[in-house]
Amino acid sequence: MTTIIALGLQWGDEGKGKVIDYLCEKAQMVVRACGGANAGHSIHTDGRKYVLHLIPSGIVHEGVRCLLGSGMVISLSSLEKEIAELTEATGRNVNESIGISHGAHIILPWHSELEQTRENSSKPVGSTLRGIGPAYETRASRFGITAGMLAHPELLRKNLEILRDSIAPDSTVSVEMVFDELMNYATWVVPMLADVSLEVFNARKNDARILFEGAQGILLDVFHGTFPYVTSSNTVTGGIYAGIGVGPDGNEKIVGIVKAYTTRVGLGPFPTELFDATGEKIRDVGKEYGATTGRPRRCGWLDLVALRYAVRLSGVTSIALTKVDVLNDFEEIMICDSYIDGEGHEITEFPPSGIGLENCKPVYTKLKGWKSFSSGSLPLPLIDYIRLIEERCGVEVSIISMGPDRRDTIEL
Ligand code: IMP
Repeated sequence: MTTIIALGLQWGDEGKGKVIDYLCEKAQMVVRACGGANAGHSIHTDGRKYVLHLIPSGIVHEGVRCLLGSGMVISLSSLEKEIAELTEATGRNVNESIGISHGAHIILPWHSELEQTRENSSKPVGSTLRGIGPAYETRASRFGITAGMLAHPELLRKNLEILRDSIAPDSTVSVEMVFDELMNYATWVVPMLADVSLEVFNARKNDARILFEGAQGILLDVFHGTFPYVTSSNTVTGGIYAGIGVGPDGNEKIVGIVKAYTTRVGLGPFPTELFDATGEKIRDVGKEYGATTGRPRRCGWLDLVALRYAVRLSGVTSIALTKVDVLNDFEEIMICDSYIDGEGHEITEFPPSGIGLENCKPVYTKLKGWKSFSSGSLPLPLIDYIRLIEERCGVEVSIISMGPDRRDTIEL
């Protein structure tokens, strides 16, 4: 059975929640691999809106096993809140459907304090302030706290001491306070601990229908994104395998989710950003405000140079183009297919890791807008837009999303 991998190809906020929900309608298992509550996946279904930060999108469907992989960094207070909201909204005991990898790391108050200090410094990255970066940092330094440690109180206490001494020796939050809080969480977290790698491996052997859910976007990848304005995990396809603990089986369908225009939150270069009324119109019509932080998103035209780079890094087999309806009311639509770099040369490839991107100016192709399309056959200007993306990126567009509801989806 084919595993579907769905991931964002821009700077996050591509409308992953909606597409993943659509794709996982028939899935039996949905697995998140990386990131934490910096993500915000919105799902509109049956007249309700769900915003998921940690739990995989499959949770809104009954009977879907939802797993949080080792590559994730988890805030237990966020998870508790999310579970409570979902339990109320669905009337189900959602805990039974969720498995948390022993190896996932736990975000603690010291991580958040550290991040707050850094973001107040002269070199902020405009993070979501969810403690994500410091949690990955302590994991890489090999003294973080894993979810599995909640089942081993003495090991947990010892590691909390090491962690506090290392990153927050002057904090007013003591080891005892954090230990007691974690022991409270342990009552519901420990029963949810799971060997995610093994479960996924066995489910694949049994031909289960599985979806791997990416978070953030390729251009925020810590190795390949626009460093240092990136998140702290690997958002590329390889990061998804690593975060879950399985390898490719050569049979995956990799769906890259792309918004019909571009947005970015936080700091960092963004060549096609619009600072005029058109940018504001995209923000207003597209309701481009962060699902996690509420911050207004920076908006601009679609950037095919960046998209080709993301397609290369992710190995996608098709594209789902989202929020196409947001561009319904434009006479003309611009699409960027090359840059003039800082030295005046025209370039068609994204600068590796985005170095020098801040000096790149977009070269646009002007296309006719398709004007107020809702259903029925696709208008010609929209077909032209889609064909240009396919031709310039070498991947077919297989889905277009025309609105937040699952029904506003067209398979091409
Ligand atoms: P962090 O992941 O909170 O450390 O934030 C680092 C950068 O990634 C900031 O620019 C954030 O705005 C951005 N970021 C992190 N998660 C998301 C997301 O889910 N959508 C969009 N941007 C994100």
